[in-house]
Amino acid sequence: MRTAYSPSSLRIKVRDNGVGIDQTALSDGHPGHWVGLTGMRERAGAVRAELNIWSREEAGTEVELVISASIAYPREETKAS
Ligand SMILES: Nc1ncnc2c1ncn2[C@@H]1O[C@H](COP(=O)(O)OP(=O)(O)O)[C@@H](O)[C@H]1O
Ligand SMILES: [Mg+2]
Repeated sequence: MRTAYSPSSLRIKVRDNGVGIDQTALSDGHPGHWVGLTGMRERAGAVRAELNIWSREEAGTEVELVISASIAYPREETKAS
């Protein structure tokens, strides 16, 4: 896992060296087996993040979440006194 903080965004990448996800499963899912990826997409959407998934059969999978700075880094409250 790799986490990169930059002024414009927070970027989190997770990679495995597993069997990979075939493109049909990635785009259309497996009937009754789509909870994990669907949930990840929904949660990314909830924080207006970008979710990218790359996968090649037998080569593994990489998932990247990019959250814009304004959402990822809350501003400090400025106190009146
Ligand atoms: N990291 C991964 N490596 C290989 N295949 C994966 C990976 N993540 C998901 N898959 C494939 O995509 C399908 C859907 O994944 P997911 O939405 O997490 O549902 P579930 O894990 O319940 O099957 C899985 O059944 C599996 O075939
Ligand atoms: Mg899963």
